[in-house]
Amino acid sequence: MSDTFDALWAALAPLGRHRTTGGYRRFTWGPADTEVRAWFTAAAAERGLDVRTDRNGNLWAWWGEPGPDAVVTGSHLDSVPDGGAFDGPLGVVSALAAVDALRARGVRPARPLAVTVFVEEEGARFGVPCLGSRLLTGAITPGRAAGLTDAAGTTYAAAMAAAGLDPEHMGPDPDLLAGIGAFVELHIEQGRGLVHTGHPVGVAGAVWPHGRWRLDFSGRADHAGTTPLADRSDPMLPFAATVLAARAAAAEHGALATIGKVLAVPNGTNAIPSRVRAWLDARAPDEAALRAVTAQVDAAARAAATDNGVLLTTYQESASPIVRFQTALRDRIAAVAGGGPGEPVPVLPTGAGHDAAVLAAQVPTAMLFVRNPTGVSHAPDEHADTADCHRGVAALADTLAALAG
Ligand code: GLV
Ligand code: MN
Ligand code: MN
Repeated sequence: MSDTFDALWAALAPLGRHRTTGGYRRFTWGPADTEVRAWFTAAAAERGLDVRTDRNGNLWAWWGEPGPDAVVTGSHLDSVPDGGAFDGPLGVVSALAAVDALRARGVRPARPLAVTVFVEEEGARFGVPCLGSRLLTGAITPGRAAGLTDAAGTTYAAAMAAAGLDPEHMGPDPDLLAGIGAFVELHIEQGRGLVHTGHPVGVAGAVWPHGRWRLDFSGRADHAGTTPLADRSDPMLPFAATVLAARAAAAEHGALATIGKVLAVPNGTNAIPSRVRAWLDARAPDEAALRAVTAQVDAAARAAATDNGVLLTTYQESASPIVRFQTALRDRIAAVAGGGPGEPVPVLPTGAGHDAAVLAAQVPTAMLFVRNPTGVSHAPDEHADTADCHRGVAALADTLAALAG
């Protein structure tokens, strides 16, 4: 089992990795994404799994005929800009390795079993995270998804078509969903919860509510060396005030708020920008705290824009409500992963979004976490020890065996 995990991991590792940063740039429907999808299709086919692409481009590798009451496991292969190797791929590689482990044990699942790869989980290219699972469940309309654009103005529909898939068929698939009896996503932990408990593996309890907002500060372009301060409409100033307000609001409400992406136009050293576009990512333990944070940031951004003669428009790009995973499935898996009912692995909340959280609205869903020694994620230094990855595969194989029989 560890051999097959290691071989799969080694084969996937070079794909989409940036030569100088060492981070991954696997952006949905781009060349690296096409490579990792082809890698998955080949690896699944080598195992005799029947690989199908659903109407939204998500990949499903079936062991047995699809549905009913299928046990499904998987994650995603796309990345954030300069992302780590584990966020997403660990769940996909572990799923394939778990299939190998079950076969090596002579398990013949009584229920159909599938390994999935969801499309555009990070929302790095088109802005809305978990797009594949949102489309599948109807949490986003195909019309809205089709019209999303990347930084170059390419629409989601055009990018999907360029990758050889037909965007006309996008949309909810209630029949496919109705055939899923349980979905389990294994993921690297994006924090140090398991380091503190001393366990290599845990299960997810809840996913914090979170969302993304785009803020457009529009001012007036002018000369940096000649325009008196009093005559400026500089959108950089309310933008800067908003970054600080986000930090303060998050601290006040026990939440998290980040502005990690910003575009200044025209981006010249000696010119006052005409526009600054920024994206706010906010997350909190509960919906009330999240609302309080975003209201506070919005008020601060508006006040600073007014003070500086700048126009502000805002747009919510995505909303992800709080998700509490079903306790029965969660506790069952915690016991299986711990090796028995007396020693369940820990249950942890997370501020990170996942396809599992989207599916949880319609399917019994659970997540397994693998220890991350530093907690770093969405960065090239993201890491899990190989021995812990192997324990994750074993826990996933035990879980699938328990669920699928
Ligand atoms: C996805 O990893 C997210 O939480 O943004
Ligand atoms: Mn991620
Ligand atoms: Mn992920």
